[in-house]
Amino acid sequence: MNAGAPRIGVPAERADGERRVAATPETVRKLIALGARVAVETGAGTHAAMGDSMFADAGADVCSRDAVFDGAEIVLAVNPPPVADLNGAAPGCQVVAIFDPARNSALVSDYAAAGLVALAMDQMPRITRAQSMDVLSSQANLAGYKAVIAAADRFGRALPMMMTAAGTIQAARVFVMGVGVAGLQAIATARRLGAVVSATDVRSATREQILSLGAKPVFVENVAGIEGEGAGGYAAEMSAEYQAAQAELVSAHITRQDIVITTALIPGRPAPRLVSDAQIASMKPGSVIFDLAVAQGGNVEGSVPDEVVMRHGVAVMGYRNTAAQLAADASALYARNLFNFLAAFWDKEAGGLILDDEIGGAVRLTGTRAEAETAPAIS
Ligand code: NAI
Repeated sequence: MNAGAPRIGVPAERADGERRVAATPETVRKLIALGARVAVETGAGTHAAMGDSMFADAGADVCSRDAVFDGAEIVLAVNPPPVADLNGAAPGCQVVAIFDPARNSALVSDYAAAGLVALAMDQMPRITRAQSMDVLSSQANLAGYKAVIAAADRFGRALPMMMTAAGTIQAARVFVMGVGVAGLQAIATARRLGAVVSATDVRSATREQILSLGAKPVFVENVAGIEGEGAGGYAAEMSAEYQAAQAELVSAHITRQDIVITTALIPGRPAPRLVSDAQIASMKPGSVIFDLAVAQGGNVEGSVPDEVVMRHGVAVMGYRNTAAQLAADASALYARNLFNFLAAFWDKEAGGLILDDEIGGAVRLTGTRAEAETAPAIS
């Protein structure tokens, strides 16, 4: 460990379509107050409405990419940087990012081989004390909002009912499939815009949440395994009988909908297929489907990331990275999640992060601090 204040590096994101940044001037100030030195790559906040001078004013050293990684003991990122970029980092450098380990096992192996400590914020346990560190929730909430806004923008009609001298416009019908964090925000947003909203989920606990937001629950009844809840409050994969009943229910409902927002995910598995081509064909021309799960395999047949696909007169759309479309707010919340994580486990004497078993055991994908400190320097 270097003498003096531990060094935190914040690179500019390089992933295609990524617009977020893992620190803000606000969190830089707070990290410095914890006792760290913070280096931010030139231009890191450009797409999130945060200029270099704002980071410099907050006390960051705004510098080149190499200088950000040079001697860094902690790296804060949205997407994990490739190992080659981390050559100059301190041995056992802790990299805090969204690793998506189920889909990035090769990268995780590279980190392990290089003696880097990969801390996956997307593996944060869904426990009360970790709520303020939960990046999946903070980003999904914004994504649910954006999905409705994007679909409403694409839709050639208005969402609220309007009574005008020229006649009455009927309120649009919005159907939300999957009522987790994103789905709840999608319901709330569509309601605020004046739509008539219905929603479905496999977890029966969501029925009350749907009602409390003023929407209509649409649920499979009288089929075994209806609770739908697996480990950690997440959905489980449903039986064939349930899936058939769900498809029938959706077929009857979807024909009357103007906008469908799908958000269904099952951890560690491809997104469940919820809307078939035949169901799309049964919808009115001009309807819009927004598939929030498009990057995870898609809930909707034929959806393509970052494209609007016309099928039977229905626009099927979805972004690969929805939260990045609201980069300023998404960055602000993500950066606070990371600061809350660092602050909770900051050890002044060790000059860095010492994780506990419950959260550390869940988020740490490679190495331990102790192992890393004896690991050879990265060459
Ligand atoms: P998610 O992103 O994994 O999935 C989205 C939704 O899709 C879930 O509600 C899921 O039940 C639903 N789904 C899956 N398969 C489906 C299917 N075949 N048909 C219809 N819907 C389907 O879930 P998310 O948003 O991450 O939330 C999961 C749960 O965790 C929720 O109960 C949420 O309230 C809870 N949670 C708890 C936290 C805490 O206590 N710290 C923090 C965040 C979320």
